[in-house]
Amino acid sequence: MSVKLLTIETTCDETAAAVVTDKLEVLSSVVASQDELHRRFAGVVPEIAARAHVQRILPTIDEALRRANVVLADLDAIAVANTPGLAGSLLVGLMAAKTLCAATGKPLVAINHLHAHIYACRMAAGREVFPCIGLIVSGGHTSLYRCGNPTEFEYLGGTIDDAAGEAFDKVAAMLGLSYPGGPAISAAAEHGNPRAYTFPRGLAAERDRLDFSFSGLKTAVRYTIAGPGKPDLAALNLSPQDVADVAASFQEAVVDSLVMKSLLALEQTKLKTLCVGGGVASNRLLRQRLLEESLAGNFELHIAPTHLCTDNAVMGAVAFERLRAGKTEELDLDILPGLVRH
Ligand code: KG4
Ligand code: ZN
Repeated sequence: MSVKLLTIETTCDETAAAVVTDKLEVLSSVVASQDELHRRFAGVVPEIAARAHVQRILPTIDEALRRANVVLADLDAIAVANTPGLAGSLLVGLMAAKTLCAATGKPLVAINHLHAHIYACRMAAGREVFPCIGLIVSGGHTSLYRCGNPTEFEYLGGTIDDAAGEAFDKVAAMLGLSYPGGPAISAAAEHGNPRAYTFPRGLAAERDRLDFSFSGLKTAVRYTIAGPGKPDLAALNLSPQDVADVAASFQEAVVDSLVMKSLLALEQTKLKTLCVGGGVASNRLLRQRLLEESLAGNFELHIAPTHLCTDNAVMGAVAFERLRAGKTEELDLDILPGLVRH
């Protein structure tokens, strides 16, 4: 009989629950996206996210159990992502998990959301991928880790300002494209010339530093569209070809930075495996460029499948690694919203 886990994910703006087994079989996966609630703000509004989680968490858990054809009594433990993320959002998932544990007596397991993003690669690979360099690239994070094992990461570097996904979302808003910006920019870029504009690759010149910077790039795009000092974006006057060219040139700059620093991390650590997770990892150009580099550079590449790139509860199967090690939590477990750099 397999061990079954209910996993809960509410770190940002997706309410998600899944039932997974210790053989890493996915019995169900439910993701209630809040994209439509945040669209008109072109970014996640923490208060709105927290309230939407409150409304969606119980139906999402119910649906995950129903689709897996299990009841609470069939579960061996309940796991929840309690770090890092938006405080109000994290609290909703944690309270739901603790309440279910209190009511059923099942053990509670903590999930680090960043560990989960990289574990999505382990799940898809169907075999060991550790030790590896982990690149987590999403709306809230852009960081490189030395991942010795699934639950112990050493922070090597990360963005000193915006996350890459955030830059995609902001630039999409400037260009009048829809939210979330990543898929919209990527689609517009298909028809654009990536060399139409030369945008900055932040910190590229710092050859020994594994950090990223995207705010200068964002400003460069803004000045290209509207000119310095002009408060109103003239995006509406851009032709579709202009939009495509800016989108393609911007995407090229982000991808260049991500690829460059990932290769540097591999070189510095002498590790031979790169695992990539997070929403931006579903970007087609990034996937293609990393694949080319892995073939040329002789390192193993694992990128999470696109449905496991954006936030989901399936990747919370990383909780089995803690459960196996006997690491369960008391019911006074708290949230840790900030990025703990390991
Ligand atoms: O991992 P995720 O769902 O949430 C966070 O933990 O942040 O990532 C969401 C981010 C958004 O910023 C979105 O624009 C970006 O991932 N994204 C993409 C693509 N699909 C989603 N960025 C670039 N290209 C894509 N195809
Ligand atoms: Zn995430």
